[in-house]
Amino acid sequence: MPGPPPTQTAQPNPKPKNRCRRLLLFLAPPLLAVAVALLLGASTNPLPRWFLRLLLGPKSSVLRPAEPRPVADRSPEPGRPPCVLWMAPFASGGGYCSEAWSYVAALDAHAAAGAGQNFTLAIAHHGDLESPEFWFGLPEPSKNLAYRLAATRCELARAVVVCHSEPGAWYPPMYEALPCPPTGYQEPAFVIGRTMFETDRVSPEHVRRCNQMDAVWVPTDFHVSTFVKSGVDRTKVVKVVQGVDVEFFDPAKHVAFPLPIGVPVMLSEDSGLEHGHPKGRGFVFLSVFKWEQRKGWDVLLRAFLQEFSGADDVVLYLLINAYHSDTNFSGKIRRFVKESNIEEPVEGWAEVRVIDEHVPQSALPSLYKAADAFVLPTRGEGWGRPVVEAMAMSLPVIVTNWSGPTEYLTEENGYPLDIDKLTEVTEGPFKGHLCAEPSVGHLRDLMRHVVGATEEARSKGKKAREDMMERFSPEIVARIVADKIQQALVNSQSTED
Ligand SMILES: *[C@@H]1O[C@H](CO)[C@@H](O)[C@H](O)[C@H]1NC(C)=O
Ligand SMILES: *[C@@H]1O[C@H](CO)[C@@H](O)[C@H](O)[C@H]1NC(C)=O
Ligand SMILES: *[C@@H]1O[C@H](CO)[C@@H](O)[C@H](O)[C@H]1NC(C)=O
Repeated sequence: MPGPPPTQTAQPNPKPKNRCRRLLLFLAPPLLAVAVALLLGASTNPLPRWFLRLLLGPKSSVLRPAEPRPVADRSPEPGRPPCVLWMAPFASGGGYCSEAWSYVAALDAHAAAGAGQNFTLAIAHHGDLESPEFWFGLPEPSKNLAYRLAATRCELARAVVVCHSEPGAWYPPMYEALPCPPTGYQEPAFVIGRTMFETDRVSPEHVRRCNQMDAVWVPTDFHVSTFVKSGVDRTKVVKVVQGVDVEFFDPAKHVAFPLPIGVPVMLSEDSGLEHGHPKGRGFVFLSVFKWEQRKGWDVLLRAFLQEFSGADDVVLYLLINAYHSDTNFSGKIRRFVKESNIEEPVEGWAEVRVIDEHVPQSALPSLYKAADAFVLPTRGEGWGRPVVEAMAMSLPVIVTNWSGPTEYLTEENGYPLDIDKLTEVTEGPFKGHLCAEPSVGHLRDLMRHVVGATEEARSKGKKAREDMMERFSPEIVARIVADKIQQALVNSQSTED
């Protein structure tokens, strides 16, 4: 791996004043309003204190970095280790947010367990806007960890900065976001971009942004290949897998969520609710996704509604997150079924339920536990967090065998779903990229098969949990990350000398 560009240490530090102004320019106006209100002494804090301290507080090393030190004082010394500044959308509640939390929590526990890390860890919010709802829903230990890590002093000039977000948010950000690295690429000792993408390539602008980094961390071999193929410097691309909290997502620790929950979506025309319902407990399929075409919910509904009918004792539960959409998912699904000419079986529709109540993170394991199989015919994933959570919960999973999931999905630990072909994205900024088109026929076969294959499904689920524990447990991932950071520190020091 190459060191940072040679200009790095020769470059004078920008004036702190400019830095503040530049940072403030990128602050979202609503956030600024809240911050100002707080400064003026509003009594209720709608935002986490650590986050504000980060933005405005006198101790903030991001806003007010330590005075530039003489070069002679910049070498590592005992008692003052270099720091890792992990910048991610910690307060946003999205995918990068939960991934970043899993890394910093694991690294912190790793250090607490006496792993002898040569660095201190600091965090700062960056990327997506913060969601107060997410912040308030966080368990107390996570909040405390956040306070502590956000208050950790971090001297940028000796820091390894991790920019953990989509490349558009990296310095200079393409939209309103706190930039990462905060002052550009010259000041930190080493800058790592942690990102991923779910199509077959990376856009030229993102390639350019990746190549500004000293290293680019991606979660899977799929990404190593798509990033390099798109033009990201091969020597910079490093695979760093994502963890799954196998302690929390442990089937032995949870009882199944009592079913039924949510609302039935497909009402049979002649008989309404009583047609075929209620039955026995039935076989429960669960899918968890954001309301996006990419997630293949249309493929799922087509396969499920064509394969099963009211005569089958099966039910499909959909836990859907809104994504730039309203939450009338039942209406959207019914409209889709009508417009796609999917015919109602003579025995009436098989049961589909949308879970419309808020399921907090703490109840997710119980929900997985209530299911017999997890299914996600996605068109492309960066990683597939719900998939690995389901696997950690020992569920057999039926998931498209393309993109992120190829990193962990095998015929031994799940049911890889075939794709028919790759198709072009037809709109939006990634027009022309290729995504997978999962096979409806194969999905029907697999869903039908898993309903009858109790023993086989159970043994795959067991293997799934074993694989998750062996490869992606927080301890194992923390060791991988700590090693890579150590390498970065060594690289940055050797170029400095
Ligand atoms: C810390 O740095 C020293 C010296 O570079 C190295 O020998 C040691 O292995 C490092 N420790 C860890 C945990 O990486
Ligand atoms: C939900 O969407 C359906 C179909 O688009 C529509 O008929 C229905 O009125 C909507 N319901 C609400 C509460 O918006
Ligand atoms: C899944 O995809 C991988 C990578 O393309 C391939 O090597 C593997 O054979 C596929 N598995 C199945 C069951 O088709």
